[in-house]
Amino acid sequence: MTIAVLGGTGDQGLGIALRFVQAGEEVIIGSRKAEKAENAVEELKNLLEDQDLSNLSGLSNEDAAEKADILILTVPILAQKPTLDTVKEAAKGKIFVDATVPLQSNIGGTPFSYFTVWEGSAAERTAAILGGDVKVVSAFNNISSSSLMRHKEAIDCDCLVSGDDKEAKTTVMELIEKIPGVKCVDAGPLEQARTVERITALLIGLNIRYKTHYGGLRITGLPDK
Ligand SMILES: NC(=O)c1ccc[n+]([C@@H]2O[C@H](COP(=O)([O-])OP(=O)(O)OC[C@H]3O[C@@H](n4cnc5c(N)ncnc54)[C@H](OP(=O)(O)O)[C@@H]3O)[C@@H](O)[C@H]2O)c1
Repeated sequence: MTIAVLGGTGDQGLGIALRFVQAGEEVIIGSRKAEKAENAVEELKNLLEDQDLSNLSGLSNEDAAEKADILILTVPILAQKPTLDTVKEAAKGKIFVDATVPLQSNIGGTPFSYFTVWEGSAAERTAAILGGDVKVVSAFNNISSSSLMRHKEAIDCDCLVSGDDKEAKTTVMELIEKIPGVKCVDAGPLEQARTVERITALLIGLNIRYKTHYGGLRITGLPDK
């Protein structure tokens, strides 16, 4: 399966692309500008200089979405709708992973406060914009870009995954668990993204207070799958 990371030139998207490329997946970095995506590919090639990165390419968001089977959205919340509008047709019938979080810092406030979008969460907003034939899954909200980019180390964090399509959720969880250290937890239906996205704001506050970039989350006491 080919993965497109839309807005993959930014902190979170680049980290996700990096980890999936390391796992041997076919990855396309998407950008509003193909040239910027190609530069991001070069950045990862320089970082992983000892690795064959023939499974990594860079394209416009539209072309990346067209070519991929799984799309991952990693743009600031204010860019969510404009970006989705450009890939709406290409996303039909596919799995769409939403990693966006509505943080107050996007609207002039602090990064450790959440703001509520009308649909209840960013992931539900994505589902509303894309329409019923796209399988929207919420993931990656609680893993920091710093942890993703620290590519020689395992990530000490669970990934809470919510979504209404069980099969799509399972596919996404299996994919994410290819990242060393990450354990996926089925958080339930997509509406649980309302809680999961808020945890991001909490983690950012903790990272600021404890002066780190790697604060994460582990759920304990659940039986193995
Ligand atoms: N950073 C983290 O640690 C982290 C952790 C969890 C969740 N998240 C969430 O992941 C998302 C991305 O975070 P980030 O830190 O990677 O963001 P970012 O670096 O600020 O932006 C990511 C990419 O989005 C595109 N973009 C930026 N402004 C845009 C606009 N006005 N219109 C259209 N596209 C625009 C840009 O790509 P092009 O210019 O190439 O098109 C940019 O490289 C956010 O919703 C964030 O809350 C981030």
